[in-house]
Amino acid sequence: MKVLIIGRGGREHALCWKVKQSPLVSEVFAAPGNDGMEDVAARVPIQESEQETLVQFALENEIALTIIGPEAPLLEGLADRFRQAGLTVFGPNRAAAEIEGSKAFAKDLMRKHGIPTAEYAVFEDYEEARTYLQEKGAPIVVKADGPASGKGVIVAQTIAEAEAALREMLLEHRFGEASAKVVLEEFMEGEELSLMALVHGEKVIPLEPAQDHKRAYDGDRGPNTGGMGAYSPVPHIPITIIEQAVETILKPCARALVQEGRPFTGVLYAGLMITKDGPKVVEFNARFGDPETQVVLPRMESDLVEVILRVLDEQRPTINWTEEAVVGVVAAAEGYPGKSETGAVIQGLDELSPAVLVFHAGTAKNQQGQFVTTGGRAFLLASRGTTIQTAKDAAYGCLERVRCPGIYYRTDIGYRALKNRFVP
Ligand code: AMP
Ligand code: GLY
Repeated sequence: MKVLIIGRGGREHALCWKVKQSPLVSEVFAAPGNDGMEDVAARVPIQESEQETLVQFALENEIALTIIGPEAPLLEGLADRFRQAGLTVFGPNRAAAEIEGSKAFAKDLMRKHGIPTAEYAVFEDYEEARTYLQEKGAPIVVKADGPASGKGVIVAQTIAEAEAALREMLLEHRFGEASAKVVLEEFMEGEELSLMALVHGEKVIPLEPAQDHKRAYDGDRGPNTGGMGAYSPVPHIPITIIEQAVETILKPCARALVQEGRPFTGVLYAGLMITKDGPKVVEFNARFGDPETQVVLPRMESDLVEVILRVLDEQRPTINWTEEAVVGVVAAAEGYPGKSETGAVIQGLDELSPAVLVFHAGTAKNQQGQFVTTGGRAFLLASRGTTIQTAKDAAYGCLERVRCPGIYYRTDIGYRALKNRFVP
């Protein structure tokens, strides 16, 4: 069968790489993909937003399964269009993707269905929001309701900071329609964890957990980014906590969406805070996480395509996982997450051991066939190991051999697992 992956980042490269290994699959297509994926997928020059052209391509080429990577096309209703055309697609319809598209919707759903999350209130009026803020005090979290390319969440340490964020969002319309509404949310303390599941209606098949590193610099300092690295498993968080999160968060959320007439098909991603009162939801996403996917899929021994087809076919597949750890480090272009440099030549990738995984995101090939940076996160390099420590050492050992002017990466990916005692 032929499989189509929609998107162009590291997550989609990892999906193509994994799907390509399936004995069921004859050909993998990526639309639009990136130059770094060409070893595992055929590129299709159609943008994620070109719904009719994508549907036509899938019909003409008899695509048996389409996986949609990013949230934007899901929120634009791409999965709806594929389903209307009778195509098999793994990704939620617009109405179900609202769990990611509107934080107010997600919070109201959680409140109504008793899913543990931070206390909150939703505002459209600046003065009302300010009154609530004075009542609650700081620290407090200000969130734009809609998608704001990862910039819509302000963890405010002071009331003044929260007020400034409210002003920007509600009065100055910094994110346009996306910040016409804001959520003011209780600040939660604890350890963060990413837990994804394959979902079809009420059926929930959890994947192995991972931890992302969202801040730009070592020690979780500096500005928020799309993610500077990830690792899996997360050995210092007890399995009972993960099971509790599946039972109290993922399963109830899938059930709630069915009850609301918005059944979800695809990957439900719960960003969790493990608080002293147990796991609580920070956010839901309606898709595979990036960079979590790049470290979770390499641990999956089962055939992802077969697993997804079984999920869609009212079966309940079990997924086999390796005990091995995977640590993935993002190399980003100079300036990221601000305006970043482009065009720097990346050398040394082809000299790495084939056991090392390189998932491309912000790279392209120049006329000499060399990889160059195109801005933002360039690539993620992932290594395996029997422990987080050995996987981490291997990943950094390889990264030191990659040469690219101006590129930077965090040197401490996985540190939270390592500062706690790890018994393999
Ligand atoms: P998001 O853009 O929704 O992924 O949020 C970015 C980051 O803000 C999260 O990864 C958390 O570290 C932090 N955050 C969001 N909501 C809360 C909260 N209620 N309490 C503490 N931290 C939060
Ligand atoms: N790693 C966070 C996300 O995919 O949104």
